[in-house]
Formats: sequence, structure tokens, C-alpha cells
Amino acid sequence: SVKIGILTSGGDCPGLNAVIRGAVLNGIKQYGHEFVGFLDGWRGVVEGDVMDLPRQSVRGISKQGGTILGTSRTNPFEGNGGPEAIGKQLARRGIDGMIAIGGEGTLAAAHRISEAGLKIVGVPQTVDNDLDVTDYTFGFDTAVQIATEGIDRLRTTGESHHRCMVAEVMGRHAGWIALHAGMASGAHAILIPEQQVSMDQIVEWVTDAHKRGRAPLVVVAEGFMPEGTETAHSHRGLDAFGRPRLGGIADQLAPEIEARTGLETRATVLGHIQRGGVPTAYDRVLATRLGMAAADSAAAENWGTMVALRGTEIVRAHFSSALGRLKTVPQHRHDEAVTLFG
Ligand code: F6P
Repeated sequence: SVKIGILTSGGDCPGLNAVIRGAVLNGIKQYGHEFVGFLDGWRGVVEGDVMDLPRQSVRGISKQGGTILGTSRTNPFEGNGGPEAIGKQLARRGIDGMIAIGGEGTLAAAHRISEAGLKIVGVPQTVDNDLDVTDYTFGFDTAVQIATEGIDRLRTTGESHHRCMVAEVMGRHAGWIALHAGMASGAHAILIPEQQVSMDQIVEWVTDAHKRGRAPLVVVAEGFMPEGTETAHSHRGLDAFGRPRLGGIADQLAPEIEARTGLETRATVLGHIQRGGVPTAYDRVLATRLGMAAADSAAAENWGTMVALRGTEIVRAHFSSALGRLKTVPQHRHDEAVTLFG
């Protein structure tokens, strides 16, 4: 029978297991396909490190965080990699085609591998929601939910102490998590990489909130830089081990806000909590549907394509048409949020 190998690659996010389950169940039930999983992303592909994925191996996993296959940021073209080496590993194990689940880097690699003649379909994935090919990525809803809960908690302790609270969320290039979690939690400032905001403006929003008796809540995406500053990861003295201290943007903003407003300010970096644990029902459904569609694509020999969400439907897009474009937060979405500040 036809044997399909699945890999999860790049930064993980909640919902990966639901994709694996959707693909395996659909592929087995509808097409009688057989499945294996490559361990730790492209590493498992290049080294031929695989595990069998029979039906019982995916039982009940859609609610599990992480990925049962493991992941890595291994580049399949480095070291012993490359299409020829991969082709040999596939042939040795009788694997006919691959399903690659991952973000920009993974999908770009899948495209190159497909151009080299190997059979592969892609499933877009990132908590950042910044892939242009799809309306939403699974994992994003969960990340927003976790961030919102965290920010809600910061608000109550901020209110008790009459402090300004700065919450840093993920998003190097796009501020989707900051925008949505900030709106959901009623933040007094939302700072994203796409929009320039000056320190003066931030101070004004914080001061206005304070004057109205609120504990100012600033939500900042990790990739944000205040207007006129150089780098978000500037050196700030030495750490406990004598190394140059690399502060995130929240750690840099908090003392600056405190100095300019006179308000006691605390910074919290939510970090990888946003990528861990149980996916929301929305993400499980989206991920399951994408996994099922990927198995459909493999059965239909639609190699060189990826699955994506458009509106409420799952569609197919060619790798070539889907890469090299980030979906950033449009100005009007940030303006909409800003209307409620101050
Ligand atoms: O791309 C997903 C993401 O979570 C980003 O938001 C973040 O900048 C990055 O991955 C963190 O990467 P790592 O897990 O390798 O520390």
C-alpha cells in the first residue's frame, strides 16, 4: 500500500498532534494508506529515523500539546541532507510521499524538496499567525487564549499595587498575538513590530490610564521597537555570570516607563507558555481538518501543494504562490485598537 511519512518541524505549537491524527485517520480509513512519523523534523527525514503510526498511535492525541514526533529547527539542506540523501532514505523505507507540518522555513524547504522531484505536501503552522497563505494558523487561538489569561492575571496584581504592568508576548515579525490578546484583555497600549509608536505616546497612554484610576496595562510583541531606537536586544550591563545581559523589549520598556511616569512598573515575559499545553477546541478542529486535507492531497497526488484555510473552507495552494510573504497586522487593525486607548 501507499506509505506516507509525516514530520513536524520548526517551533512547535498546540494542535500539531491533531493534524497528525486527522491525517492518519483519514488516510487509513478513506485510502488504506500506511503512515510513519519522522522524528524531530527534518533530522528524522535526513537520518531515516522513523516510527510507525498505526491507528492506535494517534488515539486521543488531538488534545495533547506539543508533537508526538518531536521537532527541531534542522535545515534539511545542511550537513548530510539534500534531496538526494532524502530520496535514498525514503526509498530504503518504502515511503512514497511526505506531509510536512511547519512554518515559513519548513514550507520553504518542502518547496525546494518538491522542486527536486520528491513527493511532498505542506501544512502551514505557527503560533504567530503570520503566514499569508492561510487566514488563520492553528495554535494562534490557543496562544491568544493563554496570553489573555496571563494578562488578566497581571491586571489584578497591577491594580492591587497601583502599578503599570508590561506584558511581552510572542511575535518577532507580526503582532497578531499582541493585538488579539491586548484587545481581549482591554490593554491601555498595544505595541507591535508593524507600527511605529514613540516613547512619548506610550507614556501618554500609560499616564491617561493612571489618571482614570486604572493600573496601566501595556501589551508588547517581542519584535516591537519604540520609534527612534536601534535594537530591541541591546546590551544592558552584565548578568549574574558576567555575560552581557540581553533584555527582551518588556525588560527595556518597564524602567523607561517608570522613569518617565514615576509609576512603579513591572515587566513579565510570557514566553513559551504561549506554545505549551492543551489546544483550544477551535485549534483542534482547524488542525484536524488541515491534517485530513493533507491526506486527501497525498491520495490525489497533489504533490507540491499545501493546505490552507480560506474563510471557513480548507483549500490547496501551490508552495510557490504561498511563500515569501508574511501576513502582518494591517494598519487599520492597529488603529482600531488604538481608538480605545487614552
Ligand atoms: O515562530 C514562533 C515563535 O514562537 C516566535 O513567536 C518566537 O519568536 C520564536 O518562535 C521562539 O523560538 P524558539 O522556540 O526557538 O525559542
